[in-house]
Amino acid sequence: MRVLLVAGKGGVGKTTLAAATALAAARDRGRTLLVSTDPAHSLTDVLGMTGDAGRVGEWRVAAEPVAVPDAPGDLDVLQIDTRARLDSAWTTLRGTLGGLLDGAGVDPLVAEEIAAVPGVDDVLALLEVGSYADGYDVLVVDCAPTAETLRLLALPEALDRLVSRGFPMDRRIARLLGPAGMSPSTVEAIDALERLARELTAVRDLVTGPHASVRLVTTPERVVLAETERARTTLAMLGHHVDGVVVNRVAVGENWPAAISERHRDMLVAARDRFADLPVRFAPYADAEPVGVEALLELADVVLGGDDPLDLGAVRASTEVRADGDRWFLDVSVPGAHLDDLDIAVTADGDLVVDLGPHRRVIALPPVLRRCEVSGASLDLTETGQVLRVHFDRDLDHWSASVRS
Ligand SMILES: Nc1ncnc2c1ncn2[C@@H]1O[C@H](COP(=O)(O)OP(=O)(O)O)[C@@H](O)[C@H]1O
Ligand SMILES: [Mg+2]
Repeated sequence: MRVLLVAGKGGVGKTTLAAATALAAARDRGRTLLVSTDPAHSLTDVLGMTGDAGRVGEWRVAAEPVAVPDAPGDLDVLQIDTRARLDSAWTTLRGTLGGLLDGAGVDPLVAEEIAAVPGVDDVLALLEVGSYADGYDVLVVDCAPTAETLRLLALPEALDRLVSRGFPMDRRIARLLGPAGMSPSTVEAIDALERLARELTAVRDLVTGPHASVRLVTTPERVVLAETERARTTLAMLGHHVDGVVVNRVAVGENWPAAISERHRDMLVAARDRFADLPVRFAPYADAEPVGVEALLELADVVLGGDDPLDLGAVRASTEVRADGDRWFLDVSVPGAHLDDLDIAVTADGDLVVDLGPHRRVIALPPVLRRCEVSGASLDLTETGQVLRVHFDRDLDHWSASVRS
């Protein structure tokens, strides 16, 4: 199963390009599911399934995937409406959880993370994506605007960690209260949380695994490009593979005033410069909105230029641990980041915490590194781009509590 997340700032053309790419994938790669996690759904509009204005709304949200008529292969579309499924049980669960943590002796870093666990909507959207993925060869996700998407993508990691590290919290509680002292609602909350974490971990593996990538859509404007750069850095830091950048709505051809087409050409050059290590494609500003199967496939073919719809060919970074004499190091991909924006720490549980501005990644260290101490960190340039290289020294008999870069 291949997974492609199409992400970018609001209005840049994510939905249009996700739909175009999904059509090409259905044609070239097999059974494809196109999902939207943006509450402002427009997939079916873009695919021309909503018909004239009077009928808009008919297909907007469906509980099950709907086949796209006229697709050049098997393509289903699903617009997730998390709000409709919002269940107060989740809110209760979070409340209970907060209570459980108090006094359970949980690592402060973990507690901080729990406070940052995003909204219920996000949890549900991710779970739904996961639950429908079975039976498809390809999953294309039309993401919500960047900020929400980043929150969404950081979520499984946060919750997984919450459960795997927060527990043996249940044992701690059992020790505090004695099993008889655990109320049925506590037991229920723990069970629910464990189940949730299991499902979210499966979704995380789906969206960050070796078969998943993120494609960034942007437009030839300075402000949008700047946001795209930050999104790229954050996604890479969080462990996602960005497979390329599509600059959408580029004014090319005779019909545009020279001033605009020149500005766009300059911005395209700037994009190629800033994303020098990534494939950068562009889509021309179409005379008519690209709506409907035919127009979308045409757009996809221009952008892809005959390449695999699911892989524009960027080199995949890895967070492998490598030995260097008596030392070990671990690389975390951080293209475009400045050292000042990065912070690292090692928890008592042996997790490496990397902070980039407001974004956090927690990497469970392999046993060999748990016996080491962080001796420093540097920004290095490797064949897969800029990395934060965390150095570990072995044979030290104490743990590093906290190291700042
Ligand atoms: N290459 C293009 N040429 C012309 N119009 C486009 C192009 N790509 C997208 N659009 C139009 O731009 C608007 C926003 O696109 P959309 O895909 O909905 O963006 P997003 O999902 O990022 O908010 C839509 O009206 C869409 O038809
Ligand atoms: Mg959209």
